[in-house]
Amino acid sequence: MGRVTEVRCAVIGYGGAFNMGKHHADMMERTGVMKVVAVCDVDPKRLEAAKSELPGVRTYLSVDELLAKEDFDLAAIVTPHNTHAPLALKCLKAGKHVIVEKPMCLTVKEATAMIEAAKQKGVMLTVYHNRHWDGDFMAIREVVEAGLIGEIFHVEMFGGGYHRPGPWWRSDKAISGGLFYDWGAHYLWWLLQLIPHPIQSVVGAFHKLKWHDVTNEDHVQAIIRFANGTIADVQFSTIAAAGKPRWFILGTEGAIVDRWEGKFSVHYFVNGIRAETQVPYKESRWFEFYRNVANHLLHGEELAIKPEQARRVIAIMEYAERSAKQGGKALPIPYEQL
Ligand SMILES: NC(=O)c1ccc[n+]([C@@H]2O[C@H](COP(=O)([O-])OP(=O)(O)OC[C@H]3O[C@@H](n4cnc5c(N)ncnc54)[C@H](O)[C@@H]3O)[C@@H](O)[C@H]2O)c1
Repeated sequence: MGRVTEVRCAVIGYGGAFNMGKHHADMMERTGVMKVVAVCDVDPKRLEAAKSELPGVRTYLSVDELLAKEDFDLAAIVTPHNTHAPLALKCLKAGKHVIVEKPMCLTVKEATAMIEAAKQKGVMLTVYHNRHWDGDFMAIREVVEAGLIGEIFHVEMFGGGYHRPGPWWRSDKAISGGLFYDWGAHYLWWLLQLIPHPIQSVVGAFHKLKWHDVTNEDHVQAIIRFANGTIADVQFSTIAAAGKPRWFILGTEGAIVDRWEGKFSVHYFVNGIRAETQVPYKESRWFEFYRNVANHLLHGEELAIKPEQARRVIAIMEYAERSAKQGGKALPIPYEQL
């Protein structure tokens, strides 16, 4: 990469659900070296919002038009899940650096095509796994890395409850990728940070039993077996009438239980005596993502969120579904062979 002093950025997808396009634009500007020059959205109303919130920004109704008319270096793709791969590929092939929102895409094949396109053009590809810097996750990781619970051998993770999904694109499987692909992308990223071993196999169980007015599954489960024997059981549900902890982590010397309540409990032993302590969450530091991207592009700092790692998240979700369709067969992930 040549000597760069400013990164001209385009935000693709300026949605109103959580104002995520605005969030990306704000983070870019906060780096002091990334400048938002353009916003692209297929909805003219959202372009009006962008114009009033980001004075001076140029707006485009399609990525083709953006690529044809605008001079920029980096695109942040903040659109519904099924568009991530096609839009990212267009931008990468046009020689733009790309930040894509989570989930990276829907399939391993798409992820690999994105990784290869970035390599071919010598540009950056990364995924907005901002929750890598969530205060709760950083605190849990610190306790694990300090060795307080020993070697992890069993993890259970749970998200959801009992509720009819709303009538938005997140409930439409063809667009969202399914129930797993929203929060699952965050949970699986966390899991893969805690268990630094290759994935041996994935078993899936998917249920569609109750909410027939939407196409997402009602309940999804992936059981992941790692090469060192660790088992993780990750579930999301919209038909779980009783909840479970978000994290239930068993180690050889202790355990962690977290219910997303501002603190988590650590169970451990001191001279053979059982002890329990509550650990408060740390402050979240999402800006770290953009600080790292800016320093990567300008000063060659190592990229924190590598696309090959983000592809492993996609692989678990895709292979869990494939396994479910094959009656729960344990499936290896092709590139994770031991
Ligand atoms: N990392 C996080 O903390 C976090 C939080 C919320 C959402 N997200 C992710 O952000 C992404 C967007 O979600 P959202 O809640 O902002 O959705 P949204 O529906 O509010 O916004 C999506 C926007 O994309 C636009 N769009 C759709 N297709 C497009 C295309 N082909 N070209 C240009 N624009 C297009 C839509 O018009 C809409 O304005 C998803 O991947 C979601 O998972 C991440």
